[in-house]
Amino acid sequence: MGALVVFESMYGNTALVAQAIARGIGGDARAVTTDVATPELVSAVSLLVVGAPVHAMSLPTDDSRESAAKQSATADVRADLDHPSVRAWFESLPAGSGPAAAFDTRVRGPLGFGGNRAIERRLRDLGYSIAAPGEGFKVRMKSDSPERGSLLLEGELERAAAWGTSLAARVALTS
Ligand SMILES: Cc1cc2nc3c(=O)[nH]c(=O)nc-3n(C[C@H](O)[C@H](O)[C@H](O)COP(=O)(O)O)c2cc1C
Repeated sequence: MGALVVFESMYGNTALVAQAIARGIGGDARAVTTDVATPELVSAVSLLVVGAPVHAMSLPTDDSRESAAKQSATADVRADLDHPSVRAWFESLPAGSGPAAAFDTRVRGPLGFGGNRAIERRLRDLGYSIAAPGEGFKVRMKSDSPERGSLLLEGELERAAAWGTSLAARVALTS
């Protein structure tokens, strides 16, 4: 298999970005939740991309996920707590090798960093090589729309697809 994009997403924004990245990579690349990304599947790919929302300037924790779920109760959208966090997923991921890259979704401003770096650190610790600097895709703090993914700023899905295409070119994936 070519590329796998593994994501965590409470409100659907990171999921949409992950799907756009997979589209941009092309070929048989696909975006999957952490429960689908078993060690067997991950070991079969030639490019691993991992993304998560920034929570408290890092990866979501059990507490921040609970806090997100409480916020969504008022916004009429249920936060997704069904799939393990990327943080927990990494804990059960065996050592690997080959190219990898990290992304996150974040608000604009001083709080908007930390996710992709935390992912890169874990990827490196497991033996992956970072194929390209991590990327962050911007969301609004709040949205009036109950639609999943409604926080994403305009143009970010296109930017995500272009980032995916550039990743595929860097690792010379044949798609
Ligand atoms: C509990 C919580 C903490 C957050 N902390 C940060 C933060 O430190 N920096 C930031 O840029 N965005 C922060 N955000 C905004 C999230 O990054 C944003 O909600 C997320 O990108 C949406 O992605 P999702 O729809 O995939 O869950 C936080 C959101 C929540 C719910």
